Amino acid sequence: MRYQPLSSNLYSKNRNNFVRLMKPSGLAVFNSNDIYPISADSTLPFAQHRDIFYLSGINQEESILLLFPNALKPEHREILFIKKTNELIAVWEGQKLTQKQATALSGIKTVFWLDEFEELFETLALEADFFYFNTNEHFRAKVETQTREDRFIKWAKAKFPNHSTEKSNFILQKLRSIKDAEEIRQIKNAINVTEKGFRRVLSFINPGVWEFEIEAEFAHEFLKNRSDGFAYTPIIASGKNCNVIHYIDNNKQCQSGDLILMDVGAAYGNYASDMTRTVPVSGKFTSRQRAVYDAVLRVEKIAIQLLVPGILIKEYHKEVGQIMTDELIRLGLLDQTAVKNQNPEKPAYKKYFMHGTSHHLGLDTHDYGMVDQPLQSNMVLTVEPGIYIPEEGFGIRIEDDVVTQEKGPPINLMKSIPKEPDEIEHLMQQG
Ligand code: GLY
Ligand code: MN
Ligand code: MN
Repeated sequence: MRYQPLSSNLYSKNRNNFVRLMKPSGLAVFNSNDIYPISADSTLPFAQHRDIFYLSGINQEESILLLFPNALKPEHREILFIKKTNELIAVWEGQKLTQKQATALSGIKTVFWLDEFEELFETLALEADFFYFNTNEHFRAKVETQTREDRFIKWAKAKFPNHSTEKSNFILQKLRSIKDAEEIRQIKNAINVTEKGFRRVLSFINPGVWEFEIEAEFAHEFLKNRSDGFAYTPIIASGKNCNVIHYIDNNKQCQSGDLILMDVGAAYGNYASDMTRTVPVSGKFTSRQRAVYDAVLRVEKIAIQLLVPGILIKEYHKEVGQIMTDELIRLGLLDQTAVKNQNPEKPAYKKYFMHGTSHHLGLDTHDYGMVDQPLQSNMVLTVEPGIYIPEEGFGIRIEDDVVTQEKGPPINLMKSIPKEPDEIEHLMQQG
C-alpha cells in the first residue's frame, strides 16, 4: 500500500458509533463510488466514497457495506461485499483485495463477493423494517451525475416499495465532524507532505517560472512522499490571478513584483490537508504588499484563537469580519463612515474578503460538520482569511489547519509551515 492504513479498530469503532445512532431494525447500506468514464476505454482514477471508507477502511471500487445491528444471525450484523478477484484480474489490473485482506483492513468478519449481494440483501430486507440510505446532503454538494449509491437506492425502492427509509448522512455528519486521534495523525501526515512541497517551491520560485512548473514541483514532492496526490485541484495564482478565488488554470508566467498565492494541500490515505501561502515572486515583498500581508496574518492569528468549543461558526465569522473590517480601514481600503452605515447583512469588508474563514477538514477537504451546532473539541478546521485588491493587482490569503481542544485555543497543525514574512523572504533568498 502506498499509505500506512489506520487500524481496523478505528473502523470497528466508527461502525459501532454509527449503529448506536441507528433506530432498531434498520438496515444501512453504503456503496463505493463509480470509476468515472472519460471516453473510449479511459477512465478517471478511482476515488473512494468517503463514507464507506470511514466505516470500513476499504479503498477499492465496487464495494458495499451493510450494517444491520438487529439481524437474526450475528454474522449478518456487518457484511462487506467486495469485487471478486481471480488470476485473470490479477494479471491485467493487479491484485484486488482477498476476503482475508478485507477483514484485516476493516475488522469485518463477514466478507462476501459482490455477486452474492443481491440475493443476501433481499433476504435481509425481509428482516428489516426500513433502510438507511446514504444520500449526499453536504450543504455545498452539487452533483449532476447518477452515483452508484443513487442507482442502488432506485433499485432497492423499486424492489421493496413498502420499506420506509432513514438518512445515514445525518449520523455521518455528526460522527465525521469529530476526529479520532488516529485520524488527526493521518491529517498531520498529509500536512507534513504539504510542508515538504512548500519548502521545495520556496527555493524554486523566481521571476520567469510558470505557475504549472510550481504545481509540478508540488506534485513531485507529494508523490515521492506517498501522498495520494493533491487533496483538491491546486491554486497556483500569480499577480492578478490571486484575486480569482478558485483560479485553477495555473498557466501564467510569474513576474518580478508579483505575489504568488498557493492554495495547495496533499492528501494522505484519503485524508486531506488544506494550506495557503502567499509569497513574493522576487523573494521580497513591496512595502504595500507587506502591510497587507501583515494585516491578513494578524487576522489569521486572532481567528485561530477564537476557535474554542461552544462557539457557533456563524458568530465566529461575524467576529472575524469585524477584525478584518478594522484592518481594512487601517489599510485605507474601507472608510469608517461607510462602515458605520453598512447594511449588516452585506458588510463592507466582503468587498475585499468575500469567502468564509473556516471549514471542517478531514476525509473531504470541505468536510462534514453541522454548521449550526456549537464547535466541540477534536474538530479539524481551516482558518483562511484573505484580502483581495484587484485595483492593486494582488491578493493575499493565509490558511492553516487547526484542531480544537477541550479547553482554550486550538492546536495549529501547520505551526511549522513558514508564514512569518521575514522567514519567507529569508528562505526564498537562500534558494
Ligand atoms: N482549497 C479550498 C479551500 O481552501 O477551501
Ligand atoms: Mn485552501
Ligand atoms: Mn480551505
